[in-house]
Amino acid sequence: MSAARAAIVTGASSGIGLAIAKVLGEEGYALTVAARRAEKLEAAAQGLIADGYEVHSLAANVSDEDEIKRVVEAHRERYGRLDVLVNNAGVGVGAPVAEIETKRLDMQLGINLRSIVLFYRESMTMLRAAAAEHKNVLVINTSSISGKHGEAWLSVYSAAKHGVVGWTEAMNKELGKEGIKSTALCPAFVDTPMTDFVKGQVPAEEMIRPEDIAESVRFLLRVSPACVVPEMMFVRPGEAL
Ligand SMILES: NC(=O)c1ccc[n+]([C@@H]2O[C@H](COP(=O)([O-])OP(=O)(O)OC[C@H]3O[C@@H](n4cnc5c(N)ncnc54)[C@H](OP(=O)(O)O)[C@@H]3O)[C@@H](O)[C@H]2O)c1
Repeated sequence: MSAARAAIVTGASSGIGLAIAKVLGEEGYALTVAARRAEKLEAAAQGLIADGYEVHSLAANVSDEDEIKRVVEAHRERYGRLDVLVNNAGVGVGAPVAEIETKRLDMQLGINLRSIVLFYRESMTMLRAAAAEHKNVLVINTSSISGKHGEAWLSVYSAAKHGVVGWTEAMNKELGKEGIKSTALCPAFVDTPMTDFVKGQVPAEEMIRPEDIAESVRFLLRVSPACVVPEMMFVRPGEAL
């Protein structure tokens, strides 16, 4: 099967990733959606299919290099091209510095940062082919406002998300002239399952909507090849940076 435009979205089974997948579907992209838990992902994929979008879902753990290769290869086999890559899967585990567990350290770096490097590497052939065609390939890397300033007790998450911003900057320098543009999204609290832990202090209705973040992707798809947007911050009214 071939498609006019195609995208991979990781962490697409809920929250920000699912909202971005919807926008890409609306914009005519055939989708590969990936996330860890198969059942939750399948339910999300069925919703997207019911909305009329072309969707292939693949349960995969992005902390595993072979699984990343499998997602990219399955996408290539099905659609033959990659115009938008959304590296969105992420996890945050809080801990005071003296109590950081090595397993959780590795897990957070693996999912939030290492997987992004591997997705780029594995996708380069398809990204370059699409860029040669239309000079407007987009890679979205979901960082966080914690990627702009360090957060106490979320130090490993903050470090990984700063890494995502740095990696995005490096990719723009390395690949920008070829027509491969990268954007780091840096949101504060968004109403998703990830922020359930804090909803006692910050009500869900006062949080940024996942659709607010996804709308930025529509904008990024529309800007001309002459314009790169390296990062976007999303904060709540009155929130200090
Ligand atoms: N919500 C916020 O306030 C906020 C703010 C700033 C940045 N972010 C970032 O936004 C991104 C999306 O988070 P969200 O808020 O939308 O939370 P979410 O609804 O919990 O979504 C996280 C997604 O990532 C997937 N995922 C987690 N670990 C994975 C793994 N090892 N392999 C594959 N998929 C995995 C989840 O699938 P499973 O559930 O199956 O694991 C889920 O689809 C993350 O990178 C997060 O750090 C969120």
